[in-house]
Amino acid sequence: MQTQMLEVDPLSDNRKLYIRAAEALANGALVGMPTETVYGLGADALNAEAVAKVFEVKKRPAFDPLIIHIHHGKELGKYTVIPDALKDTVHTLASKFWPGPFTMVLPKADCIPDIVSSGLSTVAVRVSAHPTMRGVAKALGRPIAAPSANLFGHISPTSASAVEKELGGNIEMILDAGACSEGIESTIVRPMLDEKGKPAIEILREGPVTREQFRNLVKVIRKKTQVEKPGTETPATAPGQLTSHYAPRKPMILLEEGVEFHPKEGVRYGLLSYEGDSELATEGDWAEMVALSPGNGRLAEAAVRLFAVMRQMDENEAIDVIVAEPVPEAGLGRAIMDRLRRASADRCRE
Ligand code: TXA
Ligand code: MG
Repeated sequence: MQTQMLEVDPLSDNRKLYIRAAEALANGALVGMPTETVYGLGADALNAEAVAKVFEVKKRPAFDPLIIHIHHGKELGKYTVIPDALKDTVHTLASKFWPGPFTMVLPKADCIPDIVSSGLSTVAVRVSAHPTMRGVAKALGRPIAAPSANLFGHISPTSASAVEKELGGNIEMILDAGACSEGIESTIVRPMLDEKGKPAIEILREGPVTREQFRNLVKVIRKKTQVEKPGTETPATAPGQLTSHYAPRKPMILLEEGVEFHPKEGVRYGLLSYEGDSELATEGDWAEMVALSPGNGRLAEAAVRLFAVMRQMDENEAIDVIVAEPVPEAGLGRAIMDRLRRASADRCRE
């Protein structure tokens, strides 16, 4: 299959392009498309066969449900059934964080095919702030199911060329709108009632909307298990949050507290540094050293660059092993550390 690469024009409303992409989706095609977090692999969410292709092309296990993207919060009621006791909380969160890098898991309406939610009674819903994702969803008139446009478990794509490298030849179309402005996947929460019957949320995945931003809005319940072990039978609340994820093909070591690094003779190491000015970065013997935040942008800059830099180091043939420095674990740093931990977790490779 030839993958068409179509450019989004920053100086026009792109109406014709969005209609063209929506027509492709309506015909059951898969389209790689941008959001402000990462690029998604889009399919018509109400077409079970098209959604099945998403799982096939990504090599994604069937137990890992997809996020649906609606073009406006007013569509939420069509695709979810929100319990009365949670309506105010859902409304507050939607008003505050939509459109944006924010996803809510809610009881699903019957029109959402079971394959989208992997058989769960809930569905994850997001209104992206990216005009392309919203424009195409509006032109389609239905939600777009879109996981990140990478092979399962691999590094998420933050540019159209990264999507092409991951899935080129296996999907019909990619819409190129340049680099993503957030760089890491949306924050996922599940609105629920706490043990006293009061509205609360559980954070299923850390992301650009930070824990601190929920303060004074809604109670956050701590999850008992943060990550699910591969091969676990019982479905966890965020089934896709496997220990090993977002991973480069090369081994990666995260220098967390307690991790000792003993370089081996003959192995070439690359350093994924936070700001590039630590003792390790300046004095170590690295085949390549890349800083996540070389400017003064710190955590926001690090998040935007994270997956692109990991991809660059993965592709650099002068490196055998990637060594990563930790970043401060507060605010956006929590989401970055989550991705670094999963990328460096032990895994079985084919
Ligand atoms: O930023 C993002 O969220 C990107 C863009 C494309 O929207 N999408 C994304 O999708 O990261 P994906 O499929 O790579 O990750 C979605 C996560 C998975 O870990 C999945 O298990 C979880 O959302 N999820 C989806 N539906 C769920 C549900 N009903 N209950 C719990 N977790 C769910
Ligand atoms: Mg993903």
